[in-house]
Amino acid sequence: MTEAFDAVDVIVHKRDRRELSDDEIRWVVDAYTRGVVAEEQMSSLAMAILLNGMTRREISTWTTAMIASGERMDFSSLSRPTADKHSTGGVGDKITLPLAPLVAVFDVAVPQLSGRGLGHTGGTLDKLESVAGWQAGLTNEAMMRQLDDVGAVICAAGSGLAPADKKLYALRDVTGTVEAIPLIASSIMSKKIAEGTGALVLDVKVGSGAFMKTRENATELARTMVDLGTDAGVTTVALLTDMSTPLGLTAGNALEVRESVEVLAGGGPEDVVELTVRLAEEMLEAADRGGQDVRAALTDGRAMDVWRRMIAAQGGDPDAALPTAAHTHEVKATASGTLTRLDAYAVGVAAWRLGAGRARKEDPVQAGAGVEIHAKPGDTVREGDVLLTLHTDTPERFARAEDALEGGIEVVEGGTAQTPESVVIDRIA
Ligand code: URA
Repeated sequence: MTEAFDAVDVIVHKRDRRELSDDEIRWVVDAYTRGVVAEEQMSSLAMAILLNGMTRREISTWTTAMIASGERMDFSSLSRPTADKHSTGGVGDKITLPLAPLVAVFDVAVPQLSGRGLGHTGGTLDKLESVAGWQAGLTNEAMMRQLDDVGAVICAAGSGLAPADKKLYALRDVTGTVEAIPLIASSIMSKKIAEGTGALVLDVKVGSGAFMKTRENATELARTMVDLGTDAGVTTVALLTDMSTPLGLTAGNALEVRESVEVLAGGGPEDVVELTVRLAEEMLEAADRGGQDVRAALTDGRAMDVWRRMIAAQGGDPDAALPTAAHTHEVKATASGTLTRLDAYAVGVAAWRLGAGRARKEDPVQAGAGVEIHAKPGDTVREGDVLLTLHTDTPERFARAEDALEGGIEVVEGGTAQTPESVVIDRIA
């Protein structure tokens, strides 16, 4: 087959800050998926995109080309509207777990295709796999049945969605090109648009524990993704939320499931409840079901009922005891005063080193490993108070986890915390 373009020309155009044409973009994404554009050529193009950026039109065409590389799902046969949430990833971010059943209470179907953790941020599937018997893999038919019966499903994304992204994401991971905003936005949105949801709420994290460390970058990413969704006919809204400190009081798989169940039982930490309720309100609004008392469904047991049915539908036992780690170790305050900083990245790396996360995608995770948090920024603590409990099955990991926390905890006499009042910093629509 004669190729329409030469990969080197496309790379040189982007290197020289020229806009790529729609045809060039469609060709390069397709030819890369077919193996005609070599890994080293795509790697060079990704770096040129990172350095020189892309226009809104280029990003939109790139996203459409990635969608066209695979299958598209279709939920139009369901009797209710669909809404989905995507988080750019953070430490202690267990929100999907209470959120999916909560939204389903209000007759909006939630098809939540999720991933596993890599690096210091946890993955929703790893968390749910700490529930005895629960299965992440569903066929498209089983997913549709569950959406019809229960209204909510959290499962692994099938390999058919945006295969170009799978290949490109793995390449970016090893070539220093993950951080390119056009590539992050098109990667996330190609999967979400291909998944076929009618409404989408994006939780764009900002802070040390997030991909985007500054508000400026997070805003640009959110704006780019909202535009891509809107252009594709998906009602899309983004919230910018704080990730300078972990969400809630746990980071680690079974520990986070336990906290999510507390939220579903009407309790749990206020920041987790606040963000869950706010995201649910946005999802319902985007699906034309706004104006409901969402918090009431957490306190009166309706969301818990959907959770139990959702877990059981995928083979899980919602009543089984959650796994716990064999060993614990306490981290204590070394001074008295205000806890001014509990750094999300430091806690995320500590949880990861304790065994909650993986360094390579084939590594196993420990269900019980992680960090339990006893004080949050703004709290007054006394020297010797327990700030964190570290959990692991392999106690030789404690020292490396403590190293990760070095510099991440700050207690200052008369100090004030550097975290914002509310976890929701901004809304972009
Ligand atoms: N998540 C994705 O799916 N893709 C990215 O590029 C970054 C985060």
